[in-house]
Amino acid sequence: MKRIKLEIAPGVETEFVDRDRALEQVAEWAERGTRFPVVIFGPEGCGKTAFLRQAASGLRELGYDVFYLHPIDKVFLADVDDPDVKTLFLELVRKTLEDEKWGRMALAVFDLTREILKKRRRKIAIIADDVFQAIGLDKAAAYVKGLLNTIEHPVYRYENIVVLVATSEGVSRSEIGRHRWADIMPMWNMAKEGFRRLYEAIPGVKPLFEEAWRWTGGNPHMLLELHKSGWNVDRIVKALIRDKELTSSFIAKWRRWLQKAVEDPETLWSPDAPEELIKQLVEKNLIVYNMYDRDPYFWIDQPPPERDPELGIGKNAAWQTPLHREAVRRALEEIT
Ligand SMILES: Nc1ncnc2c1ncn2[C@@H]1O[C@H](COP(=O)(O)OP(=O)(O)OP(=O)(O)O)[C@@H](O)[C@H]1O
Ligand SMILES: [Mg+2]
Repeated sequence: MKRIKLEIAPGVETEFVDRDRALEQVAEWAERGTRFPVVIFGPEGCGKTAFLRQAASGLRELGYDVFYLHPIDKVFLADVDDPDVKTLFLELVRKTLEDEKWGRMALAVFDLTREILKKRRRKIAIIADDVFQAIGLDKAAAYVKGLLNTIEHPVYRYENIVVLVATSEGVSRSEIGRHRWADIMPMWNMAKEGFRRLYEAIPGVKPLFEEAWRWTGGNPHMLLELHKSGWNVDRIVKALIRDKELTSSFIAKWRRWLQKAVEDPETLWSPDAPEELIKQLVEKNLIVYNMYDRDPYFWIDQPPPERDPELGIGKNAAWQTPLHREAVRRALEEIT
């Protein structure tokens, strides 16, 4: 599978690095199709979008007609052989960019898929990145059901179909999970050796690799943010405290539990841990809660270790990255 190019910093291009197992999984899906829509979640910035773009390119290479939707970035691609469908799609994109009704594109793939299959049995991939924000979280489950129907009850027969959806961890995961209409699969930050290759691709003066690893826990977005900030951890942490709204009332309310969770996130798994706090930490994208069994079968690419106290990973609860944990630690210290 040819690796795509990604711009990781202004003027710095690199190949999609590592994630070898994830690429094997794409090849397997291409071979058999996905029986359910695969809904991918994981820490913010762990590389979901990069992976979906790589998957789109790989599936095309393997003979698929590919629809790729990423409303938040305003990217819509139809890499399909049928010129009529392509024209139809581009017309819809044009309209959508005008009136910003992003949901229309998400829904249009159902009709366009039918349109393609009407003429000939084909292999089709629908790849939707962060569409739930565009169509509304309340419609996430219904959308996934629509995708499942496309797989299970197609109007015209297909040779194979692959449906991949990515979402940020949190509300949508449980909303979709309870219906069992999808294979929900977590994806973690990059494993150490692959992450090293991304680190090496960054030009200029850098901290030691081990230091970059300890701060980011293999999260590519955090690595690039650190690079952008001139490797100033302090700035990143301050921005996180602000953006995650670690306000004095939040800190005051949960101080005792947060102190314990900073030491060991797994304390949040204890039966007396307050549900309200857990909900807020999930919504703020600070932790991943209810982690999956580490059997690779359940995961996209390699699962994280069962436990890594240094990176803030527990068996059932984990900080998204050590920097997320650091933001909470700092807020506890500074807000009195
Ligand atoms: N395997 C990879 N090789 C090279 N660059 C990567 C890889 N994975 C991610 N990146 C880069 O790291 C950055 C963050 O990745 P990406 O945007 O894919 O994360 P994400 O999980 O989609 O984030 P979000 O939760 O914000 O949607 C991007 O600049 C991306 O190009
Ligand atoms: Mg993304």
